[in-house]
Amino acid sequence: MPAEIIDGRAVAQRIRDGLPARVAKVEEVLGCPPGLGVMLVGDDAASATYVRMKEKACAKADIYSRQVTLPGDASPEQVFASIEEMNQDPRIHGILVQQPVPSHIDAEAVCSATAPHKDVDGFHPHNLGELLRTGTAPFVACTPRGVIELIDSAGTEIRGARAVVLGRSNIVGKPVALLLLARHATLTVCHSRTRDLPAVCREADILVVAIGRPKMVKGDWIKPGATVIDVGTNRLEDGSLCGDVDFDEAVEVAGKISPSPGGVGPMTIAMLLANTVESAERKAGLA
Ligand code: GUN
Repeated sequence: MPAEIIDGRAVAQRIRDGLPARVAKVEEVLGCPPGLGVMLVGDDAASATYVRMKEKACAKADIYSRQVTLPGDASPEQVFASIEEMNQDPRIHGILVQQPVPSHIDAEAVCSATAPHKDVDGFHPHNLGELLRTGTAPFVACTPRGVIELIDSAGTEIRGARAVVLGRSNIVGKPVALLLLARHATLTVCHSRTRDLPAVCREADILVVAIGRPKMVKGDWIKPGATVIDVGTNRLEDGSLCGDVDFDEAVEVAGKISPSPGGVGPMTIAMLLANTVESAERKAGLA
């Protein structure tokens, strides 16, 4: 029997449906809605698309958004001055600098420059350190938070499960691993240099894949009945999108699977909106 599909669009919509009422309360107290500052450096087409999607999502939730676009050859001083301006702007409660930034800009320094209390991406060392220390943080990164929400929405028990995270990025793999550990999973983190990856993945009751290679995880890498979360979004030569999991094979083996597109992607945006509203609620004394 094919796997149950975990519908990220539906789960994300439920989360977004809950936001306008919270936005209205914030506006009552602060006199302005929650605000998100989005910064894009350069003209990477995929990044520009993601930024547009985030702005549209803000508009739908009645969240104010302000976009700062800098050219790809902007100096580090220009980038950091713009971040500081958003740090000081009382209408902005969340700041997001779209990654990747051009290579002459220090990406780590960008994460550290965002005020921790506006760090809705959860990339500031304070928030990452809290996540490491306690298993949660004032802001948990949007994609990892979305992954956990999807696993919960599928009714898969994390406690005691064998979880394998394929990928070890600071944006996805490492924070997902920490969140799963905090929920009492037995955890393995693997990556491109792991020996016999298929055998490691086959041990997983919960398999989270964020490796960035189209259709890399095959059906015979998956334990029958496992819950599979595919974080990857890859564009193929024919222009179509696919995940890091070979969906057609995996759906025949897994118990539950999130597709890509239509799985984690919509959750990332929903979590960004939720983090922004929560940040404004804190300022308003509502959270
Ligand atoms: N690029 C890819 N994913 C993300 C994300 O979650 N946040 C930011 N800022 N950039 C990204």
